[in-house]
Amino acid sequence: MTIEPCSLPSHPRPDPALIDTARPIGMFDSGFGGLTVARAIIDLLPSEDLVYLGDTARYPYGSRSLNEVRAYSVEIAEHLVSTYDVKLLVVACNTATAAALALLQDTLPIPVIGVIDPGVRALVEASESGRMGVIGTVGTVSSGAYDKAVAALDADVDLISLACPGFVEFVERGVTSGPEVTLLARRLLAPLLESNIDALLLGCTHYPYLARVIADVVGRGVVLVSSADETAFALADMLKRNGLAHPDGSREGRHEFVSSGDVRSFTRLGSRLLGPELVDATLWRPGQP
Ligand code: DGL
Repeated sequence: MTIEPCSLPSHPRPDPALIDTARPIGMFDSGFGGLTVARAIIDLLPSEDLVYLGDTARYPYGSRSLNEVRAYSVEIAEHLVSTYDVKLLVVACNTATAAALALLQDTLPIPVIGVIDPGVRALVEASESGRMGVIGTVGTVSSGAYDKAVAALDADVDLISLACPGFVEFVERGVTSGPEVTLLARRLLAPLLESNIDALLLGCTHYPYLARVIADVVGRGVVLVSSADETAFALADMLKRNGLAHPDGSREGRHEFVSSGDVRSFTRLGSRLLGPELVDATLWRPGQP
């Protein structure tokens, strides 16, 4: 799939020495999935402020065209930069990373990190046999982003990619176990059972919430890998390299949540999935700055 040019203007990168490092980190996902990455970031970098935007009004991203997801990603990124003055952006969604990471990195005035490269690094480390799998949304898998990321590592690995349409919708409804989701997992993951993989990357940030169901289906011989921790480590490294870490490493960071859909349901399910840091959320209507 080709990525068409987008209208986002190119901003000059400010001198890191002049940046106010007390500004928050911005991150977004189509909905609740990026909270798996937010959890890892809050745990690893407790003194950083965070603004998380869940685009629940327009999820799922995985069944949309990459062009559409790219346009949403650009709009959200611009909103996080202009309204919250974020110092760095985490694209906490594989589909949006596949669709828009390169464009955002080229055009935003701040460093931008995605979840695909960190996930691939963790996957390759977890596999002993070199035969591994990745599951993701239709958009991510058909973009070929994982094949490209693995090829770029120049490692001798065999990667099987599989789309799992339907998983995200269960998580967004707060259903992370039970007969329905297990039945779907058995059906979707069947092609992996004969594949002899020893590691499987959860290549959609929603999937760690289904890890128990997925693990039961693929069996004990397959290590499940999530990109969340590795992304948090990559973020910590990026903050350090760019001189962007919060000046007071002993403070407790503030965490702000924004939803494009109903904020009450976002807060209710979000706090169940993320934990006590999510106490309320504000509404952002797409189309507004
Ligand atoms: N959590 C997102 C991902 O990692 C997208 C899920 C969706 O909205 O389809 O791809």
